[in-house]
Amino acid sequence: MPKDAITNEPLIEMVNVTKIYPPDVAALQDISLRIYKGEILFLTGMSGAGKTTLIKLACCLETPTSGRIDVAGRDLSLISPAGIQRMRQKIGVAYQDFRLLDKQTVFQNISMAMEVTYASTKAIRERVEELLTMLNLSDKRDKLTGDLSRGEQQRVALARAAANRPSLLLADEPTGNLDLTTTKLVINLFRHLNEEHGSTIVVATHDESIYAETEHRVVALSNGHLSDHPRRTPQQGELFEA
Ligand SMILES: Nc1ncnc2c1ncn2[C@@H]1O[C@H](COP(=O)(O)OP(=O)(O)OP(=O)(O)O)[C@@H](O)[C@H]1O
Ligand SMILES: [Mg+2]
Repeated sequence: MPKDAITNEPLIEMVNVTKIYPPDVAALQDISLRIYKGEILFLTGMSGAGKTTLIKLACCLETPTSGRIDVAGRDLSLISPAGIQRMRQKIGVAYQDFRLLDKQTVFQNISMAMEVTYASTKAIRERVEELLTMLNLSDKRDKLTGDLSRGEQQRVALARAAANRPSLLLADEPTGNLDLTTTKLVINLFRHLNEEHGSTIVVATHDESIYAETEHRVVALSNGHLSDHPRRTPQQGELFEA
């Protein structure tokens, strides 16, 4: 979505959110954050800072210990399990640990995400092939994901997350195993989803090269606390030029 089309309507609003993992690990402490519809947001911070925890809260994989999380204006703690299930169908998540089915092919892993939406066989095939082309994976279509390199698996996880053109895409360390050329393919996928489908995109990353020059919002976590990230204005031709 062009930047002037970002709404000031939050898609996700976290208010004073704390997450304690038993017995006493404070992964997030008193976080208040709005993620607006149509924006691309980078979530940065050192290892252990709480990025994955925040992603898991945003996709309802974990619940906060205290505080409130609203998604599309609805308090998650008041939504039924079936309602959460329906909401999760609009969210694509590329997990840091991929969570692929190793004994299934690349095509099967990606198409599975679409089958639950009752998309036609033809629509599924076309979408999977489009994603494989975008991520330079076409020749791996029928390989078992367990036989792929880490970088290839990472792109399969991204393709699966993007398959349904989700309203919200959460990508946890999406370029950790990729070279610069392949990183650009991933960035193009994000940009395409955002501009063509209005997807809101949240990228948790250590990789400064993908956010250092962006005009998109960057927030940093440090020991479970949130702060704005200082950054400079992008130059022409840079990686994630807006
Ligand atoms: N299931 C869990 N049980 C207990 N502690 C956890 C659990 N998950 C995360 N933690 C702890 O919570 C803190 C935040 O972890 P998190 O995975 O969110 O960090 P991160 O910023 O994603 O780190 P990385 O960059 O290494 O992926 C860490 O101290 C971690 O050890
Ligand atoms: Mg993490």
